[in-house]
Amino acid sequence: MARWAPLYYEKPLEIVSGRGRRVVDGEGRTYLDFYGGVAVNLLGHDVPEVCEAIEERLRTGVLHTSTFYLARAQVELAERIAERSGVGDPAVYFTCSGTEAVEAALLAATEYRRSNRVIALDRSYHGRTFGALSVTGDRRWQGSGLTPLDVAFADEKEDLGAFVAAAGPESVAALIAEPVQGVAGAVPLAPGRLESARDELDSHGIPLIIDEIQTGWGRTGRYWGYQWHDVHPDILVFAKGVANGLVLSGVVGRRDIMESLPMASLSTFGGNPLSATAAVATLGCLDAWRLTDNARRVGRHLRAQLDRRLASAPCVESVHGRGLLLGISFIRPGTGEPCPETARQVQEECRRGGLLVGLGGTHGNCLRLMPALTLTALEAHEGSAVIEESVHAALRKRPWRPPERAARDGSAAEAG
Ligand SMILES: Cc1ncc(COP(=O)(O)O)c(C=O)c1O
Repeated sequence: MARWAPLYYEKPLEIVSGRGRRVVDGEGRTYLDFYGGVAVNLLGHDVPEVCEAIEERLRTGVLHTSTFYLARAQVELAERIAERSGVGDPAVYFTCSGTEAVEAALLAATEYRRSNRVIALDRSYHGRTFGALSVTGDRRWQGSGLTPLDVAFADEKEDLGAFVAAAGPESVAALIAEPVQGVAGAVPLAPGRLESARDELDSHGIPLIIDEIQTGWGRTGRYWGYQWHDVHPDILVFAKGVANGLVLSGVVGRRDIMESLPMASLSTFGGNPLSATAAVATLGCLDAWRLTDNARRVGRHLRAQLDRRLASAPCVESVHGRGLLLGISFIRPGTGEPCPETARQVQEECRRGGLLVGLGGTHGNCLRLMPALTLTALEAHEGSAVIEESVHAALRKRPWRPPERAARDGSAAEAG
């Protein structure tokens, strides 16, 4: 398998089963899962309502039909998403990954505006194909920087309205933004940041593309992450947790933009009946169990626990994020420089303590927490205690020392 797809942990982990917020590895060890398959296991594992809907679909014997045929679950899902999206006169197009949904949004916006000039934000992550990568501002993921789009990146200090005005708004195809920058380590956009661009976008008819791939479906404590801001998307991109683990993504955008494509466009697997069935069941549970409220409530609790437990740790810079999309960033004590080694060490220690967490941050110095939205306060308490112990264990090992120093000091580091 390609080396560019790295595995977590010194000794890679195989997850073989799970239930709720717990997973079991190949050696029979159970972990509390605070990463949720990168924010995909929205409801948790082995959820009867979703499993039964999938099993019922399996019994029809037909797993795939393509978008050339009607699929009831697909239409039902499109209606549900369109209704909730906040997009005026919406049209939906289903795809198979977040990246592909971003590509579809960029395609629609560039066709609509007849321009390939796009404004994106510094430190953003929008996916891994040619177009999606070109609007990705996080340098660690950019690669060669060769790009099919003419992209201007606004850094966090820039006023977005002034930035759009200076970029030649007549020829700007879109502004694309994540409400909370997930891969960057769960960094929320500053209040008022998107709003500052709204007048400039509106007066030139520039579509606002909101990437809700990580922030959608209640994760931030509101149904969509953009709802923390006073803006409405013209195009919204979704993926990740919508089918609680089955493959499904898509775009919901203003019909006039979506229908500006001069050609037919086909995604063979897009919105396939099995995934669409799982998504209808997942979104039903999300509403019935009031999980957006739970994400806000338990997220606040988890955040407060972490703030309190980590306040005195000299290697912790800050805890940030919204709802159940949280990040912890680490620095080298004394210097304040980002410290990816500590983040990795704490991740290993968490595993030892029975907790799975992810990594991220533009310097690789963040832990990322994206548990299922069904997380309980008790589990938040349990997980935060493991993180506290893990940070102290990492502090004892001082992972920021140069490797030669660490090897020379040997067991002293373990002890001290
Ligand atoms: C905000 C955002 N956009 C796009 C993507 C790409 O999605 P995928 O990995 O499903 O292609 C991701 C993936 O993490 C993401 O977090």
